[in-house]
Amino acid sequence: MLYYFKKWVIDMLKPNYIEAKKRTKEDIKVLRNEYKIPDEVKNLGENKKYFIKTYGCQMNEHDSEVISAILEDMKFIKTDDYENADLIILNTCAIRENAHNKTFGMLGRIKHLKQAKPNLMVGLAGCMSQEESVVDEIINKYKWMDFVFGTHNIYKLPEILKEHMKTEKLEVNVWSNEGNVIEGLPSKRDSKYKAWVNIMYGCDKFCTYCIVPYTRGKQRSRMPEDIISEVKNLKEQGYMEVTLLGQNVNAYGKDFKDRNYKMENLLEDVAKTGINRVRFVTSHPWDFTDNMIDIIKKYDNICNYIHLPVQSGSSRILKLMGRRYTKESYLELYKKIREKLGDNASITTDIIVGFPGETNKDFEETLKLAEECKYDSAFTFIYSPREGTPAAKMEDNVSKEEKEQRLYKLNEIINKYAKEANDKLVGKVMKVLLENVSEKDENMLAGYTDTMKLVNVKADKKYIGKIVNVKITDAKTWSLDGKIDEWYRRKNRWIIWWFWRV
Ligand code: 5AD
Ligand code: SF4
Repeated sequence: MLYYFKKWVIDMLKPNYIEAKKRTKEDIKVLRNEYKIPDEVKNLGENKKYFIKTYGCQMNEHDSEVISAILEDMKFIKTDDYENADLIILNTCAIRENAHNKTFGMLGRIKHLKQAKPNLMVGLAGCMSQEESVVDEIINKYKWMDFVFGTHNIYKLPEILKEHMKTEKLEVNVWSNEGNVIEGLPSKRDSKYKAWVNIMYGCDKFCTYCIVPYTRGKQRSRMPEDIISEVKNLKEQGYMEVTLLGQNVNAYGKDFKDRNYKMENLLEDVAKTGINRVRFVTSHPWDFTDNMIDIIKKYDNICNYIHLPVQSGSSRILKLMGRRYTKESYLELYKKIREKLGDNASITTDIIVGFPGETNKDFEETLKLAEECKYDSAFTFIYSPREGTPAAKMEDNVSKEEKEQRLYKLNEIINKYAKEANDKLVGKVMKVLLENVSEKDENMLAGYTDTMKLVNVKADKKYIGKIVNVKITDAKTWSLDGKIDEWYRRKNRWIIWWFWRV
């Protein structure tokens, strides 16, 4: 009897594909006082170090900032060396199989470490934790691990650690329900100049290849007041740039029952805070309105950078993908954005090759679309079947070699236009937020233009954290070189001289 009760409790806290797929009409609650640290674990991290490895998208990067802050609230100190850590968390991604393999590869290395250091605590977080088959595998083959928690209950980490301290057994605590909006969580941001700001969680689009609606749950928008106040706070702290984050940001607000407030309203209100730069990712072409384009054009501090995933250039494949637009309607939107925002805007995309049933003709249409759009850059992927999604049940009749060849051909076109777009910028003066020392040369600084072009600049470290005018001197496929614009430097000197005089 006790055995069955225990099994029931464990099953309740395990992810479940059927539950994860459900979308009920239940109201989404905003919970403000849920994050607490029980007394038993207040000092758990004293003299202990934690290591966190993040896989996947920006949403995960920001989740890791929250997890880090929670651990530091329990007095853990961060280390970048996992072999030196007392607690390791892998914040995982489930979007493609290679993300899975990387995590299991890392777990293999950590297992050896755990054998040498039995007190080491190891936890799994993120999207893979929300997958039924992954958690079954952990329970059956990775019993040496200490805890598993999901994307809906990050704020419960202190309690999960408390439970684990009591039982000293693998603690699995993953929820598959639709989730609420949790406010008041701490965050240890990686950058002092750029910040991620969640505006919504989950996704209801259910593109047939995508695991996200299952791992991240129902679409839940944060209240505009909470977002604006977070941005104002960041601005006061000296942040120069915010990126509004969501799986499908253009659908922001569609889940509000008591107000008519959409992405265009939020963009405008965030722009009005006066923060230097506002970005947003990711857009679904379906929800991109004309008003949104007008707002982007109207406010100088909304970056002229649009990430507009197309996924395929074949309307037949787009239909199978459940994308809700055709090649023609995508191109219409694309042209509208280009016309309204002008050539100074940059547009990037995501493309999947080798979707089940993709013929050569379908693929040729993707190539044609890439030629037509001349994207500034693109993330290109080979289709990866995800268990539980409708596409995983479709016959995957494109061979691995064929998929690889298609990816190669597509990348050639993408690279050609990326370089062409960069070449056009040589000689121009662009505003760059210099963030850190360049990876390629320690005498250079690196930063991004508002159009999301990476620029390496020969400049003194005193410019880190500043938006400076940079004259572009050279273009590569994925980055630009530049030098601080002399006129800008002279102007600054003149202003200083003028201040001295008065
Ligand atoms: N296989 C390959 N690529 C995928 N993406 C999402 N799901 C899959 C999958 N199953 C890509 C899409 C999406 C990006 C974040 O990842 O292009 O826009
Ligand atoms: Fe996945 Fe994006 Fe489609 Fe949502 S809109 S299901 S996150 S690809």
